[in-house]
Amino acid sequence: MNTQRENFGSKLAVILAMAGSAVGLGNIWRFPYIAGENGGAAFIIVYALASFFLALPIFYAESIIGRRSRANTFGAMKTLAPGTPWKWLGLITVLTPLLILSYYSVVGGWSIEYFFKALAFDFTGAPPDKISSFFGGFISSTWEPLIMHTLFVGATTVIVFMGVKNGIERFSKITMPALFVLIVAIAIYGCTLPGAGKGVSYLLKPDFSKLSGSAVASAIGQAFFSLSLGVGTILVYASYMRKEESIFSAGAYTTIADFLFAIIAGFAIMPAVFAAGIEPGAGPGLVFETLPFIFNQMGAAVPWLSATVAILFFLTILVAALTSSISLMEVGVSYLMENTRLGRKMATVLTGVFVWMIGIVCSLSFGPMSGIVIGGENIFGALDKLCSNWLMPFGGLLFTIFVGWKMSRADVRDEFTNGGTRSRGLFKLVYFLIRYVAPVGIIVVFITAILGL
Ligand code: TRP
Repeated sequence: MNTQRENFGSKLAVILAMAGSAVGLGNIWRFPYIAGENGGAAFIIVYALASFFLALPIFYAESIIGRRSRANTFGAMKTLAPGTPWKWLGLITVLTPLLILSYYSVVGGWSIEYFFKALAFDFTGAPPDKISSFFGGFISSTWEPLIMHTLFVGATTVIVFMGVKNGIERFSKITMPALFVLIVAIAIYGCTLPGAGKGVSYLLKPDFSKLSGSAVASAIGQAFFSLSLGVGTILVYASYMRKEESIFSAGAYTTIADFLFAIIAGFAIMPAVFAAGIEPGAGPGLVFETLPFIFNQMGAAVPWLSATVAILFFLTILVAALTSSISLMEVGVSYLMENTRLGRKMATVLTGVFVWMIGIVCSLSFGPMSGIVIGGENIFGALDKLCSNWLMPFGGLLFTIFVGWKMSRADVRDEFTNGGTRSRGLFKLVYFLIRYVAPVGIIVVFITAILGL
């Protein structure tokens, strides 16, 4: 049993680590294509509402549990509700993040591949049809994506290996601000492309007729995914938060940063999608097929600039992915460290190997194993749907019920307001959202999805 727990060093460190966890492939890779599949602007409105009224309360619920117990997900349940079945919630939320990490790492691997391609100047001057057909060929091959997946899991493992302060905190602090500047620059350039106007109006003009029940479920799933909720990553990060810091502002800043980042990524990608004549509903390849097109266009004008931006862009995706993947891995690692006799190093390596093995299957499901189809999706897609649309909302639901109905109001208040010294005026509203709005919202969505409305 490891009793010496680490902490994040400052308020800024907590926010950057949490924002680092939130901002990732979910914003740059997943958000644009899910929005594209579900009709654009109308979807984004639902996504915004879901982020602030369903997801943020869950963020607070997880933070309250994490910081109150100062433990991993399983330990938290054992501390706050000893001898109850709540421990199962603690256990499920050790496993789900590792499942997510296994397919997340496959996409992380794709971004490494594209980063290497950018370094080799592969996008400058290549014909557009060659660029978009490359993606399909690459992900369906056997070895190349596996090698990249391995590199990504390896990089994640190394950072987590170094610990909360020296690894996670230091990495997030350096990379998060740089990321923001880059994505804004690319969005501005994307909007100046010929034909970009259609993409801009796709993002801004809502068409509510496309908004089905399943689109609403996807919007909520996306909000959960993007804010890293329902599986204990925020819980574990909050357990490293010092008592004097404000839970309210950590959540508010993270949600705003995450939302802005998704929208800006939309503006970086959607105009280019239309300029390139690609379908907005083209699926998981959207970013990888579209962006090289922009770089190619730029290359015709100023080759060195195009190559530089391409390199920086794929580096951005990669780094954003890493600040998220480390938060997923930390959930498993903190569990092993605090509930077995393993130290951080061994715990990290074991977790890494586990994730790597499941990821292999996810990676192969685009190629040799693409014949295995579950509910119309390959293994990768089925796992993502299972996690995002079911396990995360379910975990989120249970976390809010735990804080809203199982913990005492006095304890919740004490933790949220730091013993009555901060954000007191907001407590009533937040407590109401945690107790009623979030759980009822999630249950309604579940029922809608189950009935297929
Ligand atoms: N939110 C991250 C992203 O958008 C991914 C992520 C990190 C995540 N932790 C999570 C997703 C927990 C779901 C649950 O890329």
